Amino acid sequence: TVYTASTTAPVNIATLKYWGKRDKSLNLPTNSSISVTLSQNDLRTLTSVATSESFTEDKLWLNGKQESINSPRTKACLDDLKKLRVELEEKDSSLPKLSQWGLHIVSENNFPTAAGLASSAAGFAALVVAISKLYKLPQDMSEISKIARKGSGSACRSLFGGYVAWDMGVKDNGEDSKAIEVAPINHWPNMKAAILVVSDDKKDTPSTSGMQTTVATSDLFQWRIKEVVPKRYEEMKQSILDKDFAKFGDLTMKDSNSFHSVCLDSSPPIFYLNDTSKKIIKLIHALNEQEGKIIAAYTFDAGPNAVVYYEEENESKVLVTDPEIYKGVSRIILTKVGDGPQDTEES
Ligand code: DP6
Repeated sequence: TVYTASTTAPVNIATLKYWGKRDKSLNLPTNSSISVTLSQNDLRTLTSVATSESFTEDKLWLNGKQESINSPRTKACLDDLKKLRVELEEKDSSLPKLSQWGLHIVSENNFPTAAGLASSAAGFAALVVAISKLYKLPQDMSEISKIARKGSGSACRSLFGGYVAWDMGVKDNGEDSKAIEVAPINHWPNMKAAILVVSDDKKDTPSTSGMQTTVATSDLFQWRIKEVVPKRYEEMKQSILDKDFAKFGDLTMKDSNSFHSVCLDSSPPIFYLNDTSKKIIKLIHALNEQEGKIIAAYTFDAGPNAVVYYEEENESKVLVTDPEIYKGVSRIILTKVGDGPQDTEES
């Protein structure tokens, strides 16, 4: 017999940034973070897994290409999932011993990896959900998020749709460092996101090593994690519950700028924004000024691409065609707030 399972998982874009680890191997963060899950119509990973007594080893294919399964991050996820399956098999000896068999994992994105968008969050979320289903593990998303977190920190937030928090936790073993839902998609469904792809090259400092440099060298970073983020975390959750876009947008932009400031304060400094990114920042502030309130908010991750959040009714105002801006933008993806991982037809 071949046992199979599959799932899709979404991309999430942080509005309160995760930047810094207190434990590198468990991916435990130095601060809590918040994100919005984006629609899987536009961006998602689809992962199918199969296991059979005749599969002698674990194998992985990403976008049609076979990849090594031995990266420590992938291994950390597989080890946790197999351990949980062993526990089930020990409790119920009638269960097939799936934990002893090889796993074949096939994962595909519906967007080009070269779009400059982090695909690792959706990828690890889908991997962990698909195998949890295959192994018939309890499907509590916060529990599963702790396993996805070991693959990539931000992946833990892709286990939920809508508005999601990653509570940093206090325990050394990571037991309480997990994703929780702040509000479901239908709480604030008119939230839209425009992704302005400024560059799709991958020459930036990878986030994993960038955050190590910041933790080790930035003084400003200590202020950020102790004084700035804890307060902002509570305020941003409240702004989501209140559907207060002006507040939410203000905090989102401030936190993006705070994150890029600690990057600049690192030694050697880390630069993710380019001239086009800075033009976008100015344009959004000018627009908000002109409107007399915040109707659009930008955020930038570890690269020059912008994600602009706004409410649907303001779309025509936000998507003004300023030729100056679009000179540096190669592609715009218009998307919106989306659901968490979805079941797919099982073969
Ligand atoms: C700037 O989750 O990619 O996007 O845990 O090392 O895999 P690892 O890092 P990763 O870092 C994401 C950084 C960020 C901010 C965020 O998504 O919160």
